Amino acid sequence: MPVYSEKVMDHFQHPRNVGEIENADGVGELGNPTCGDIMKIYIKVKDDKIEDVKFKTFGCGAAIATSSMVTELVKGKTLEEAEKVSNGVVAEALDGLPPVKMHCSNLAADALHLAIEDYRARKAGKGPIGRVETPEHDEDEHDLLEHA
Ligand code: FES
Repeated sequence: MPVYSEKVMDHFQHPRNVGEIENADGVGELGNPTCGDIMKIYIKVKDDKIEDVKFKTFGCGAAIATSSMVTELVKGKTLEEAEKVSNGVVAEALDGLPPVKMHCSNLAADALHLAIEDYRARKAGKGPIGRVETPEHDEDEHDLLEHA
């Protein structure tokens, strides 16, 4: 079993901002075909800032911890600042993730970026953008995930 930092365990056991926002301004929904997990992030935007953010996931412990951290990192931030929150930034804020679990943090960061994209599309009258499937991992990476 991978070894997790105390911060990961804390966010896994006490996840922040779990749930759904009714009448959200943007929703990012993402499926990971490698593990079959799904992530959904909701944002409420006011004056170009993320006023509220919540998540729901059918994901593993690392997915829960990274989503929880993503929501904490972006609450109150401008959309531009929130867009800079990558999976690397989230993993660092959690004092690292085991390499075999890095792909889980992609779900949270990508779903957040999708929610922002969705918000912008709706504002421009082109949304909502709906659910997106992440690309399959290539074989080498898959082997690494299976055997690490
Ligand atoms: Fe699927 Fe972690 S194993 S999100």
